[in-house]
Formats: sequence, structure tokens, C-alpha cells
Amino acid sequence: MKVIVTESIAQSGIDKLREKVEVDVRLKINREELLKVIGDYHGIVVRSATMVDRELFAAAKKLKVVGRAGNGIDNIDLDAATEAGVVVVNTPESNTVSAAEHTIGMLLASCRNTCRANNHLKSGKWDRSPFKGNELDGKTVGIIGLGRIGGLVASRLQAFNMRVIAYDPYIPDERFKILGAQKAEKLEDLLAEADVITVHTPKTEETIGMLGEREIGLMKDGVRLVNCARGGIIQEKALYNALKSGKVASAALDVFEQEPCPDNPLFELENTVVTPHLGADTFEAQNKVGINIAKQVLDALEGKLVTNAVNMPSLPDRDMEYLKPYMLLAEKLGRLYFQLEKRPISRVEIKYRGGIAEHKTGPLTLAYLKGLLEPVVKERVNYVNAKLLAKSRSIDVLESLDSTASEYTDLIEVKVSNGHGSFTMAGTLFGMREPRIVELNGYKIDMEPAPYMLLVRNEDKPGVIGCIGTIMGVAKINIATMRVSRNSKGGKALMVINVDGVIPKDVIEMVKKVDGITDVNFIKL
Ligand code: NAD
Ligand code: MLT
Repeated sequence: MKVIVTESIAQSGIDKLREKVEVDVRLKINREELLKVIGDYHGIVVRSATMVDRELFAAAKKLKVVGRAGNGIDNIDLDAATEAGVVVVNTPESNTVSAAEHTIGMLLASCRNTCRANNHLKSGKWDRSPFKGNELDGKTVGIIGLGRIGGLVASRLQAFNMRVIAYDPYIPDERFKILGAQKAEKLEDLLAEADVITVHTPKTEETIGMLGEREIGLMKDGVRLVNCARGGIIQEKALYNALKSGKVASAALDVFEQEPCPDNPLFELENTVVTPHLGADTFEAQNKVGINIAKQVLDALEGKLVTNAVNMPSLPDRDMEYLKPYMLLAEKLGRLYFQLEKRPISRVEIKYRGGIAEHKTGPLTLAYLKGLLEPVVKERVNYVNAKLLAKSRSIDVLESLDSTASEYTDLIEVKVSNGHGSFTMAGTLFGMREPRIVELNGYKIDMEPAPYMLLVRNEDKPGVIGCIGTIMGVAKINIATMRVSRNSKGGKALMVINVDGVIPKDVIEMVKKVDGITDVNFIKL
């Protein structure tokens, strides 16, 4: 497998990738060249400058994973990635401390004119009066976006004896309490009260330009602004005018509407402190980011579930360990339907029963759908796009949870409806590891999923099992296990025969001709 790295990441990350895949580090690659070569790669690792958009996905025929070495994913078209079945992974926790510390440093530099004073002194002039600043002590900081970085900034600024007010309509009140922040119900309330305002939201349709001329007009005269999140959340033109007029006393900016931007009217103003998107650039953060992104890219290339997938459910390592065998079971259950039925599906109902219902079951449903659709869709189907593909085929997927124990400690029950009726199946794990199918269309059975299996439906009468044994023996096909289930004595029976290899078509035809046999399917699980 081949991975291309288009922006600088720590050498430790590159080394980790090279343990398992071929890596091309192409830091200077331009867009045109990238579009030309991306078709050769199974993975791409980027930071914030490489646009990973629909056009790139269309050219990236082998791509399985996009590794975003960092946090923000505004340069990646997630819908296009999901449609292409490409998993997008990032490292949201690895650089938050660095970003929060940079925010504080920029704020202090901005309040104390540190950068201007530094330049002045280094140019050979000793002067103090032009650089008089303000303390943070006793002031109010307004934090917009109280997520990972906003939260760290809140707790750090309280150590400066600042009062914290925060605006974030998407988090529970509890988080404001834990962080000692007063909740602003409306953005306008925060704008009116804060002496310093710092933004920590992602760049979304809602947040682009969220602080413009109107909002700046509502702020206190002499307010100080910080943006170490994403360029464009504060409108640069409105900010420029407000810095010029003095309405905004100073601004500290690590990010810009266009990046890279070596030239910007804001740089000409004395009351701005600017850095070239340095928030995450510490040795510590880059080391963590590099190693984490390499691990996740490798996991995704090996088809494993990853801990920080952005466009599919991801799980902490502990939950992942627990769920892995259930995912395997769910995928095998999924593979049953189209090997036994040929009718299009209208609805899939999955019920998780027992202990499993107390865990995150989203990945199990994805695994079931992956197994279900793999044999019949042309598109590449994986955990990323399985739900989307089901939706595009008008299959309703319903999940329900029932934590009361059944006959089994844990049970995955599935009902597939197809317009003519329904098809049911259920599976569990024996000894927490071994998958077993325990119900198939009303037959109770103990069926061990195997690579080669013969499913026979027959009348429950003497001689049928013997005939099948003879046919297999003559054809030199070794039977590994055989299980029989019947719904009533003399009624219909289901026979599940695990064999050691592929059963040729003519042998299957012979089995079909045995008196009393109604249906025969050779399946692979
Ligand atoms: P996060 O997802 O943990 O937190 C973002 C918070 O913003 C969430 O709590 C969310 O509810 C809130 N939010 C979303 N829309 C909002 C809105 N309209 N109004 C108010 N709040 C809103 O993200 P994070 O890890 O804290 O990162 C914050 C920002 O910092 C992101 O933009 C990220 O890209 C950026 N970042 C920059 C650097 C850098 O080098 N400068 C480094 C890391 C992260
Ligand atoms: C991020 O979102 O992680 C930052 O923008 C930093 C980076 O891209 O390295």
C-alpha cells in the first residue's frame, strides 16, 4: 500500500507509517500534480492547506483513508469522502493544549504590546511609554465555542482571575458549570459584556463571518479580540475597520481567511499580533499528532475500526476491544440474506438484546449492513458508506435496544422485510469470542459460521441425512460438522453442513434431487 504525505508532520509519524506501507513525502506538491498522482495512493495525510475535495476523490480510485494530522476538517469534503467510501481520521485531542496555550500567549502579547516592543528594542530604541498595556485581572473574557480548546482556555484564564462568560448553544449546561463559565444565552449578551473575546468554534456555514460589522458594533469600546480557531470566523474587513477606528483595541490572529497569506492589510496595523497558523506547532503536539495519525491511517488501511474517524462511528480502544467479535458476528449475519433470498429489501430491523444493548451499537449495525450489501452492490462498501448505500437503495434501517437478558446473555436479532414477507436471523457469541447463528427463519440452530457451508431445507423424514452423506463422500467432500433443526416432528427441517472446500455445482444439483429436499444453498460466511 502507498501513502502520500502532502504537509509536514513529525518524523516519528512518517517512521511509524513506513513500518507498514510505502510513504512518499511530497511537501511542495501543487494541486495539478496531486490530481495526477493521487490515483496511485491508498492513503493521504494532510494538514489544513491541502484541499481534499470532490474532484480529488474522483481522481483517487484506490484511496481508502484521509489522515488529517490535526483537528479542523474544513479542508475536507466529508460528504464526498463518505460517498467514495473513504474514511477520514483526525487527531482532535493531540494539539488542543498547544492551541490553548498559544491563545493565551497571543492574548497576553496583544494586551501588553509585546511584539511591537520587541521590534522597537531590537531596532536599538529603549522606550516604554508607547507600549503601556492592560491587565487581564478582574476583566471578563467571552469565549465563543466551549469545546476542547475553549474549555482549556476557560480554565487557564480563571487562573488570571478573569470572569468567564461563554456562548455555545450546542453543549449541556453542565459543561458551563464544570468549567466555571457563565452561560450566555445569546451571542449578543456575550458581545455586550466581554472585555476580551476569543473564538474557538469550528469553521462551519454558521460560524463563517459570525463576528462582522454588526457584532463588533455591539461590543464594548476598546474590546480585544483573539482568533486562534479558523480564519474567516471574524470578518477581516470589518475587523480592519474596527482596529483602525479604535473600537477594537487590539487583535491577536493565528488564522486568516486565505492561507497561506504572507500579505494582508491587517499586518500593516500596529494593534495586531499575528502568527502563521502556529497554534499546534509545538514539538509535543506535533509528535502526538504524527504518531496518532500514522496509527489511525494504518488501522484504516487494514480495514480496522479507528478511534477518531470523522465520517463513521469511532470508539475508544476499550469499547472497540469489546465490540470487535460482535462486529464480526453482525457482518456474518449480514452475509446470510442475499445468499439465501433474491428479493430486494425494504426494511432491516435490528434488535440488540442483553448486555450488548448497554454498549454503543452503531458500529454493529454498520457491520451488518456491510455484510448485507457487499455481495450485491457495485460500489465499494465499507463501514463508512454502508448506511448511505442502504439509504440510496431505499432500505429503512431500524435499531432497537433491550437490555433485559433473553435465553442468551447477548443476542443480535435481525428481521429483514422484502415486500413478500420477512426473513429472520439471530446470533450470539459463545464464550465471548465464538460467533454462533442461533436462529434462522424460525429454526433454532447452533450454526458455526464457516467459509463453506451447505444449507439444506428438507422434510423431516428418515434417509435424507444418509443420502447427503453418501453424495458428499462420493464427491470426496469432507464434512466438518453437521447440525439439524426441525420445527416439529415430521415437519420441515433445516440442515447446516460445514464442509472443507467449495462444493461443485453438479454435486449441489445431485443434493437437490434427493427425495424430500426442498431447497439447497451453498453459502460462504
Ligand atoms: P471542538 O469541536 O472541541 O469545540 C468546538 C465548540 O464550538 C463545540 O463545543 C461546539 O458546540 C461549538 N460551536 C459550534 N458552532 C458554534 C456556534 N455557531 N456558536 C457557538 N459555538 C459553536 O473543537 P476544538 O478542538 O476546541 O477546536 C476549536 C477550533 O480550533 C477549531 O476551529 C479548530 O479547527 C481550531 N484549531 C486551531 C488550531 C491552530 O493551530 N490554530 C489548532 C487546533 C484547533
Ligand atoms: C488544526 O486544526 O489542528 C490546526 O489547524 C493545526 C494544524 O493544522 O496543524
